[in-house]
This record gives sequence, structure tokens and C-alpha cells, in this order.
Amino acid sequence: MKSTSSEYDIYAVFGNPVAHSLSPLMHQAALDHTGQKAFYVPFCVTALREAVQGIRGLNIRGVSVTLPFKTAVMEFLDEIDQGARRIGAVNTIWNDQGRLKGFNTDWNGFVFALKKHTEIRGKKFVVLGAGGAARGIVYGLIREGGEPILVNRTASKAEALAREFGCAFAEEPGIEMVGADGLINTTPLGMSPRTEDTPWEGDDLHRFKVVMDIIYNPLETRLLKEARSAGCRTVSGLEMFIHQGAEQFKLWTGLEAPVAIMRQVVMDKLDANDPH
Ligand code: ATR
Repeated sequence: MKSTSSEYDIYAVFGNPVAHSLSPLMHQAALDHTGQKAFYVPFCVTALREAVQGIRGLNIRGVSVTLPFKTAVMEFLDEIDQGARRIGAVNTIWNDQGRLKGFNTDWNGFVFALKKHTEIRGKKFVVLGAGGAARGIVYGLIREGGEPILVNRTASKAEALAREFGCAFAEEPGIEMVGADGLINTTPLGMSPRTEDTPWEGDDLHRFKVVMDIIYNPLETRLLKEARSAGCRTVSGLEMFIHQGAEQFKLWTGLEAPVAIMRQVVMDKLDANDPH
């Protein structure tokens, strides 16, 4: 079917809540900067099936999918790419001439961000947490030849995830005995407003060459601050967020994303929100 009579392309984010999503700001800046006639709109979705039908009916070009819909949305799409299927979550929909295709760019964003600071192949990474976010990270690490070691408050969940992906896991007590090159936090510990929390209470962060947090609010979590003081290289969740968005942009438009612009608008917004 030939597309719309509107001269503007529409992109969207589906979430609930969605008011705090930084995707509209980031993607609108990218669309504007590359000269696209397009709007990127946040939708607080109350009926997911109908919302996905709306992508077809309204000829929305692409959609970012956020909590709590990343898994639930999958059954309403026409195709799911291999990575998203393995991870069990879709964060990106591309409307390819009426066919809705689901992708997961969280793992690419993560890999891109981490690779700027360290090699992944042949390296061991302690991954804290075993929820939805951990799945993308474990998938990305393994694809790049890294070796995840899963650690979680509920040990049975780390064990189950490790079995599924064929990687290692460790019990929390005794984690200080586990040798690894890097540490990656996928838990919400340290996220605003509880910025005094940390997923790593030990004073031995110096044994990791690189420490990454997937949290980007605050930009530097307590974990990253302590890691920096301990001499580790640190990677903020902002980089993962920006690069998962850049991959979305590329999928939708076929263009390289203006990453520096995207980073700048998000950082300005986070700085403006920071009460300190
Ligand atoms: P997401 O899907 O965004 O990853 P999630 O599924 O709620 O979110 O997973 C969050 C992870 O952080 C889980 O592994 C959770 O541990 P449990 O499996 O024991 O629930 C972990 N987590 C959350 N709050 C935590 C806390 N206060 N201390 C330790 N781990 C925590």
C-alpha cells in the first residue's frame, strides 16, 4: 500500500508510563539534524494490541518499545529478528511497508558502548542481576566472544539464566573470589532517587579493569564513582542508551545516526534535572 498523504513521517515510543522517556528528545533531535520531515511522539499505551494495530493504520514508520511492553509486544508483530527472539524482548519496531518487524537494539547499544572501552572477546565479565536487562547483556557478551559470570540476589534466577545461555554463574557470598576483567550492573541499585545505593558494597573494585552501569540517571552512579576512584575505566548507561537509539535510527531511516547530537541533548536534559 502506498503510504500516506501526510508529508511528515511519524515515529513513536510506546510505554506506560512514558512521560519520563528521553527517547522523544533524542530521536527528534536526530531526525531534525538529518533533515527528516518527521515527528517522534510519546504514547502512553493502555491497550497494546490496538496500539500495534495503530502502527499499521496510521502508517507509523518506527516505534521504540519500552517498559512494560518489550516482551508482550512480540505476539502482535509479523516478524521477530533472531537476537530479539533469543533475548525474549523487542525494543524496536520497524514498519516495513506494512510488515511490522521486531528487533532488539539494547544489546547492540550495550556492546558498542562497552567496546569503546575494552575488548570483549576472551574476557570475563561479572554481570549483576538476572532480569530482563541482563538477558540482552548476556546475549551481547556471548555474541562478542565474552564470558559472562552471572550473580544475582536470587541465586536460582542467575542459575536458570546461565543454563539457558550456557554461561557461568556464581553465588553472591564468595563473589570476591571470582576473577574477572569487568563488572556490569544490570540491577536498579543506585538509580535516582536512591543514589546512595550500590550493587557492590566491597572495597575491591580495583580488581576490575572496567566497570559499567546500565543506569544513566544519575550519569555517574555511586558504583561508577567508586570504580573511578579505584582506578577502573567506567562506562555510563548513557552510552548504551544513546547507541541503542542510534541503532534504531539506522534501522528506520537507513542513515547513520548523529550520535554526538543525540548525546548532547540527553546530557543537557539530565544535567538540567540534576538537583546538585
Ligand atoms: P529488568 O527487567 O529491568 O532487568 P527486573 O526484572 O526487575 O528488571 O530485574 C532486576 C534485577 O535486579 C533482578 O535480577 C533483581 O534481583 P531478583 O532476581 O532477586 O529480584 C535485581 N534487583 C532488584 N532490586 C534489587 C536489590 N534491592 N538488591 C539486589 N538485587 C536487586
